[in-house]
Amino acid sequence: MADNIMNTSNRRKFLAQLASSSAALAAVSWLPSLGYAQSRGPARTVINQARYRSELDRRLLGSFLEHLGRAVYTGVYEPDSKFADEKGFRKDVITQIKELGVPIIRYPGGNFVSGYEWQDGVGPKEKRPTVLERAWNSIETNQFGTNEFIEWCQRVNAEPLLGFNLGTGTAEHAVAYVEYCNVEKGTRWSELRRSHGYEQPHNVKYWCLGNEMDGPWQMGHSTAREYGRKARDAARQIRVVDPETKLIACGSSNTFLDTYLVWDREVLEECYDQVDGISLHNYYGNTPALTGNDTSRYLAMNLDMERQIHEIAAVCDYVQGLQKSSKRLWLSFDEWNVWYRARDAKARDGQRTFAPHLLEEVYNLEDALLVGGFLNTLLRQSERVRVGCLAQIVNVIAPLVTNADGVLRQSIYYPYAWALKYARGRVLDLQVESETYPIKAEGLRADFARNDRVPYLDVVATLDPANGQACVLMLNRDLESERELVLDWRDPTPTRVLACETLTGSDLKAANTFEHPTLVSPRTLDAPKAGSAMTFKLPPRSYTVAHIATSS
Ligand code: AHR
Repeated sequence: MADNIMNTSNRRKFLAQLASSSAALAAVSWLPSLGYAQSRGPARTVINQARYRSELDRRLLGSFLEHLGRAVYTGVYEPDSKFADEKGFRKDVITQIKELGVPIIRYPGGNFVSGYEWQDGVGPKEKRPTVLERAWNSIETNQFGTNEFIEWCQRVNAEPLLGFNLGTGTAEHAVAYVEYCNVEKGTRWSELRRSHGYEQPHNVKYWCLGNEMDGPWQMGHSTAREYGRKARDAARQIRVVDPETKLIACGSSNTFLDTYLVWDREVLEECYDQVDGISLHNYYGNTPALTGNDTSRYLAMNLDMERQIHEIAAVCDYVQGLQKSSKRLWLSFDEWNVWYRARDAKARDGQRTFAPHLLEEVYNLEDALLVGGFLNTLLRQSERVRVGCLAQIVNVIAPLVTNADGVLRQSIYYPYAWALKYARGRVLDLQVESETYPIKAEGLRADFARNDRVPYLDVVATLDPANGQACVLMLNRDLESERELVLDWRDPTPTRVLACETLTGSDLKAANTFEHPTLVSPRTLDAPKAGSAMTFKLPPRSYTVAHIATSS
C-alpha cells in the first residue's frame, strides 16, 4: 500500500513535470513537428495504413557520382582492371550498385560541373582532350563522359540525373546539352549524338540547374539574383527543347553561409515559374563545432536535416504565396552524407594528378547509425522531398570503396541498402511517443546550436499496398541501454516477420577495411511474434530494420 501511495505521488509529480515540459515543447521544440511526443516507459506508435504521409517516390533514395578523385576513374571506369567489361566499366562495382537498387544517380558534379565542357566528353575517345580540372586540381582525360554514364546507368538500372554547368557555362551551353541528349533527330546537337553512335535519345528527365552557386568556392559563383536570372533564362529555353524535363534550381549549399534562406528566396523570386524543385545540400560530422564531439548530439543530426527541410520548404511556400502561383515546388536533397575527416586542403587537392585519392572518408559505426537517421528523416519528409542523393556512391565519401582486387562495403552501406530494399509503397504517418534526452546549444556552431530534447527512438514505417508488406526502420540513439518499441497495429495486422536485422556494436568508432571487411555488418535480431501488438527490443546504439508481411 505504502509503495502504491509513493508510486501514485511520484506519478503525479512526473505527470506535472511532463505537462509543464510539454507546454514548453509545444512552444519551441522540434518534436511536435516531427510527429514525436515525450513519454515514459517503452516507446510506442500506432500503425494505421489509412494514415500515410506520401506515396514514396523512390528517387528520394538516389546517389551521386562526380568526376572527383577515384569516383569515376578506378571507381566505375577502369579499362585495365581485371573486372573491366568490354566498355571499361568495373563489373564488380556494377554488381554492387545493381544489387543495391539505386533508383537515380546525379552526375557529373558537384563542384566539377561548374567548369565542365560536356562536349569534351563525347565522340571518339581518341579525340577527347585531357584537361586540367579546376574544382579539384586534377587531370581529367574525358574518357568517361555523358554517353558512357548513360550506358553505365542502364547497366546498374538507375535513372540519370544530369547537371548543367551554370558556372563557367552559358544558357546556350546548357540548352545544347539537352538537345544533344533528348532530341531524337534532325537538329545540330541531336545529329551530333547520332553521329557518336547513339541513335535513340537518352530522354533524361531530371536536371540540376548548376551546383552550389551560392558558394564562394564555386566556379562562376554569383549573387542569388544573377544566378536566378540565368537559371530562369536557361530553364525557359530548355522547356522549348524538351517540355518534359524536371528542373532543379540551386538552393543553399549548407546552413552556415550568411546567405542561407535569403539566397533561396531571391533565387526563387527570379525563377519560381520556370523550375520544379530546389536543391538542398548538407554534410555532417562529429566535430567540436557541430556536436562538441558528443555522440548523443551527433546521432540527433538528422533532426537538423529535418529542420533545414522545413525551413527551405517555408521559403518555397513564401515565394509561391508572393507570386500567387498554383505550383508547389518540391525539394531535392541532392547531396547529403557524413563528411568531416577527409576534408582538409590535402584531401581536396588533386595536385594535377589523374584519379587522386580525394575525399576518401572512412566510415565507422556511429556514422552508419546517423546515416540511418538521415534516411528516416528523408522518408518522413518524403511528401516534400522528392529527390535525394547520398553523396556519393563509390570511393569519394561513399558506401563502396574499390581497390585492384575488389569492392569494400563501408558501414554506411547497410542502412542505405535496407532503405533501398525494403522501403516501398507509402510512408506512414506515425506519431511516436518516446522518452527523450536533452541536447545543449552551448559551444556549438550557430546552425547546430539548439537547446532541445531528442527522442531516444527514431522510427519510420512504409507499407506497400501492392503486396501488403511493411518496413519499419528504427534508430536507437541510447548509447547505454536497450530500448523497447511497441508497435500497435490497428490496420493491417502482421502475419509474419520476413526479416529483422540490426547494425550495432560495442565500438562506435569501428570501421570496415579490406583486411577486416565485416567488422561493422548487420546481424539478425530476434523479432517479436507477428501480431497486432509487437514489442521490439532494440539494442543500444543500433539501427534496425523489420520487414513484415501483413493481412488486411
Ligand atoms: O560531394 C563533394 C562536394 O561537396 C561537391 O562537389 C560539392 O557540390 C559539395 O560541396
